[in-house]
Amino acid sequence: MSDKVVLAYSGGLDTSVAIKWLIEKYNLDVIAVTIDVGNERDFSAVRQKALNVGAVKAVVVDAKETFVNHFVFPALLADAIYEGQYTLATALSRPLMARLMVDTAREEGAAAIAHGCTGKGNDQVRFEVSINALAPGLQIIAPAREWGMTREETINYAQRHNIPIPITASSPYSIDENLWGKSIECGVLEDPWSEPPEEIYTWTKSPEAAPDKPGYVEIGFEEGIPVTIDGQKLDGVSLIQRLNDLAGTHGVGRVDHMENRLVGIKSREIYEAPAATVLLQAHQALEAMTLSKDQLRFKQRVAGEYADLIYNGLWFSQYHQDLAAYVKSSQRFVSGEVRLKLFKGNATVVGRKSPFSLYSYSLATYDKGDEFDQSAAPGFIHIWGLPVRNQAQVQGTSSLEEK
Ligand code: ARG
Repeated sequence: MSDKVVLAYSGGLDTSVAIKWLIEKYNLDVIAVTIDVGNERDFSAVRQKALNVGAVKAVVVDAKETFVNHFVFPALLADAIYEGQYTLATALSRPLMARLMVDTAREEGAAAIAHGCTGKGNDQVRFEVSINALAPGLQIIAPAREWGMTREETINYAQRHNIPIPITASSPYSIDENLWGKSIECGVLEDPWSEPPEEIYTWTKSPEAAPDKPGYVEIGFEEGIPVTIDGQKLDGVSLIQRLNDLAGTHGVGRVDHMENRLVGIKSREIYEAPAATVLLQAHQALEAMTLSKDQLRFKQRVAGEYADLIYNGLWFSQYHQDLAAYVKSSQRFVSGEVRLKLFKGNATVVGRKSPFSLYSYSLATYDKGDEFDQSAAPGFIHIWGLPVRNQAQVQGTSSLEEK
């Protein structure tokens, strides 16, 4: 093994302890890489902390734009929501981080990559499956999986080694944040019967405290990608930031999920994802207007597959490439605008329009101007009902409840 390791460094307790531990246990030079995916914080302080704890080098990579354009938006186009609830913020960031760590390891000539994940979660799987796919020869070290320390012992270790303990370590929660959402676990949340305490929410107002007047927002899409808010063109990062603020103010985007982890356990997870909630809803509303019934039915199945593969760490698979190609193709006419009402925790689509709308007023209306040929209905019903009539005559219609 060469004497260098690239560590994915968050600045938190575990990865700070990991710097020291990698030096002590493996005698490695630690290069700390911190990836900015929109988890607002003081990155120069994070960088300095890595150096103070003992890293030989510390780099911060601004990956917000890449994250949005190459990870978040493809997931939005696919309508990827895990188990109908989780909009996949953490899961989407992992393959990107893996790629950037591999890049750094190559540049630095490091033979190993380290991450701070434990052995119980999904993130270790996502990191390692991705790293192994991108750079099969690189060794992976997972200190928090190896060292066998409890949280308290980790804190003691930090104290013994003069590693500053972040205030977040005194909070019982494990938190991961990026532009697409905030994931919160541990502490009282591990009791699925107890209501999440208000203190865990930092992106969203409680619906009770949200404004008594609704807010409205119009989102413009081009081929499935959101490009405007209230008519104003915005780049992806700014658009998401704007929506996080706006929808968060109205209490939109809180999720309490009894989640099935890849490693087989159920886990209670809380999410805040205001922009993701609004954008996924708006995008689906526009698809409902511009895609045919068959396209929509099939796309819903693809959405489930797509969400699962993101969740399960299979981003760098050819299966993903296949689905992504289908999804992209499906967006050719998904352009137009959606208007949403934001009110006390709810986002509701209240308007949609598109130059490619398949909704036809003259076909749908019950008023004058109706162009639907009602005289054709009996013939349609006659043919449509043919197999049912035939079967009923031969086999009867007796139902289960009669037995
Ligand atoms: N359960 C989510 C996932 O697997 C979130 C994980 C969040 N990680 C954390 N350290 N809090 O994607």
